[in-house]
Amino acid sequence: MLEPALQAARDQREKSQAHLFELIRIPSVSALPEHDQDCRRAADWIVRRLRGAGMDVELVDVPGPGHRHPVISAEWLGAGAGATTLAIYGHYDVQPPDPLEEWQSPPFEPTVRDGFVYARGADDNKGQVMCGIRAAELALATGGPPVNLRFLIEGEEEVGGPSLPEFVKREAARLRTDYLLIADGQFTAPGLPDLLTGLRGLLYTEVEAVGAAADLHSGIYGGVAPNPLNTLAHAISALKGRDGRVTVPGFYDAVVPPDERELADWRRLPVTEGDLKQSLGVTALEGEAEFSPFERRWARPTLDVHGILGGFQGEGPKTVIPARAKAKISMRLVPEQDPDRIFDTFAEYIDALSTPGVRLSARKLSSARAVRTGTDHPGVEAAARAFEAAYGARPVFVREGGSIPVTVDFQEALRTHLLVTGFGLPGDALHSPNEKYSLDQYFRGIEMVLHLMENLRDAPGA
Ligand code: BES
Ligand code: MN
Repeated sequence: MLEPALQAARDQREKSQAHLFELIRIPSVSALPEHDQDCRRAADWIVRRLRGAGMDVELVDVPGPGHRHPVISAEWLGAGAGATTLAIYGHYDVQPPDPLEEWQSPPFEPTVRDGFVYARGADDNKGQVMCGIRAAELALATGGPPVNLRFLIEGEEEVGGPSLPEFVKREAARLRTDYLLIADGQFTAPGLPDLLTGLRGLLYTEVEAVGAAADLHSGIYGGVAPNPLNTLAHAISALKGRDGRVTVPGFYDAVVPPDERELADWRRLPVTEGDLKQSLGVTALEGEAEFSPFERRWARPTLDVHGILGGFQGEGPKTVIPARAKAKISMRLVPEQDPDRIFDTFAEYIDALSTPGVRLSARKLSSARAVRTGTDHPGVEAAARAFEAAYGARPVFVREGGSIPVTVDFQEALRTHLLVTGFGLPGDALHSPNEKYSLDQYFRGIEMVLHLMENLRDAPGA
């Protein structure tokens, strides 16, 4: 299969690009209910591709509260009962495209500039999940891969939704797989692929401040009316010091620091603090000065505010004391921090920051534990050689600060060897305006997955 599949991958780049563009044009924003139908269309589109490739595919609506978008589970067991099984994960949902006015081309109209396709989801995760889908199509069209294949693709990753985690736990016995490839990240530097040894977890909350029964004239009542926005601002500034320390009681209690070997690996990376500042477009970094930027991004927990809602948001002045206000606040978590415990203390702490006449309360929107992945299984060498063949470089071992919530469930319920990596590049602007994805990274990513299938042929099972 390998040589003809690689040849076909090179001959059919236009087709690979056209397919990616079709998927990108479906605005599958999982957070916004008005895009529910689009999420389903994106799932249907993928189902059609995998079925067309010859796989058995199920589109599953996992029942339960908060379950909104279907899971795709596909399998091809044509390599035989004794063969190694490779599963490939991905997500078809994307983040909202806002702020729209910042986009140089429409977010759901894929536009190529300088070898990059610009669009929401181009990198995260449509461009990467398509590497796996195209590789499967090409492998199955050229005699079939030497390994059995599975796909587990979700539409709730960007909202930390429960469907795939529950599906994986419920169906673990029949989803048996030796290796699981997660390509939902990015290279450490151009030309430098990575295999991840860990991801941070996430606790996402919404804090609400409730004051008077209705919005009030600030001239008539200013001076006596409790102001929920003011209270919220005080609370937000109480949550984290300028030194980057989060003040939630017990927040750091369970934190497990990275070991010396990991730290030594990170010190050797060819990325400087200057590079980082430049790529962020800032003159200074913030955070805990006693930890390196890599440690701060990958192995330290944080707290950030993502949005403040309340009061008058339009142009020009309006003199109003709002009756309510809200803030979206999340904490990135590291190994051994328990999101449920931290939420309980966070909620108590928030409650205690209420002021006379303004009641603060916290609600959990989603949570995911941090994960560590082993790098001492045979799939690691198979992946390293696949990267070398497709991109001309072996991967470094690093962590990432982002979260892929279902990873923990894969690890615990499927007991499979994880290969967590990515085909994006730093600077691809995930979750930002003008998200982009290198077409060269895409075409090579397809070849990487083909090599991985081949290299896993004789790899021992999990
Ligand atoms: N692909 C990202 C996570 C990521 C980014 C991993 C960069 C490695 C490198 C993923 O789609 C993502 O953004 N996840 C969300 C999850 C959350 C909403 C539950 C995140 O991390 O914010
Ligand atoms: Mn992603």
